Amino acid sequence: MNNFLKNRKSVRDFKDKKIRDETLKKIKDYCAQLEEENIQGGFQFILFENGERIYKSLEGIGGYAGVMIKSPHYIALNIKDNREESIIYGAYFMEKLITKLTDLNIGSCWIGLKGVDEDTKKELFQISEGSVDYLLAIGYPVPKNPFVGDSTSSRIGVEDIVFKDEIGKSINLDELESRGLDDLFYYIRFSPSSHNKQPWRFILKDDRVILLLAYSPDEKPNLADAGIIMYYFENLAKAIGIDNKWKLLNNPDYDDGEMKYKYIGEFGI
Ligand SMILES: Cc1cc2nc3c(=O)[nH]c(=O)nc-3n(C[C@H](O)[C@H](O)[C@H](O)COP(=O)(O)O)c2cc1C
Repeated sequence: MNNFLKNRKSVRDFKDKKIRDETLKKIKDYCAQLEEENIQGGFQFILFENGERIYKSLEGIGGYAGVMIKSPHYIALNIKDNREESIIYGAYFMEKLITKLTDLNIGSCWIGLKGVDEDTKKELFQISEGSVDYLLAIGYPVPKNPFVGDSTSSRIGVEDIVFKDEIGKSINLDELESRGLDDLFYYIRFSPSSHNKQPWRFILKDDRVILLLAYSPDEKPNLADAGIIMYYFENLAKAIGIDNKWKLLNNPDYDDGEMKYKYIGEFGI
């Protein structure tokens, strides 16, 4: 999982080639399996095999500043109700799906659709209930040019995301090491996040880790980023022998005068 996280990357250039039928079948079956695994039941994956139709409709409006990513197929994340936990666990299971896709040598990239109006989306995705704010572009990655260095998205330091007892109170890295948590917090930073904002903040308090999402007062916290980091955290923790799950929290937001912080969940360590 450490290596997986460090090496994983969003793929934005896909071969103009459909995914083989048997692989598409495996992907569909796995989507169904993940929907069942999620006891909260607030989301649905929808695989669109005809990527061209989706791309044409969303060109200029989907993705960052309307830069839509072209791929042979897309998977929509349909959030069936308005509950925050449906968004969080929808993203959690989307990231679990991405891990499986990587195993199958399928590249992928999240695409945000928050700038696309609801009527356009309803007509395009033909859904009777729910809302699609994210798509996953999937396909065979275009091989990288070995003579051109990899472009990597930068990451902030462990000391910028992990705090002791409260936000802003720095943690001694020796303490993380002595508690066996240094690798976990080193590798967790390679998780993807919307606009690579890396909004996750962790507070280490006694035998718990509390997850918060930082956001500026003029925007909303992006709950998909929370679900993604929760997925990787659980898996990295499992790799060091801590087999536990996040419990969601509903505390009022914390405000340090500059940024706001939304409480997401706690994890016993
Ligand atoms: C919720 C979410 C939404 C994203 N939306 C887009 C998008 O609309 N367009 C895009 O090119 N990348 C998108 N990304 C990819 C991120 O920009 C990318 O994960 C981040 O920059 C880190 O780069 P990496 O995935 O290559 O490590 C999104 C990622 C997440 C998690």
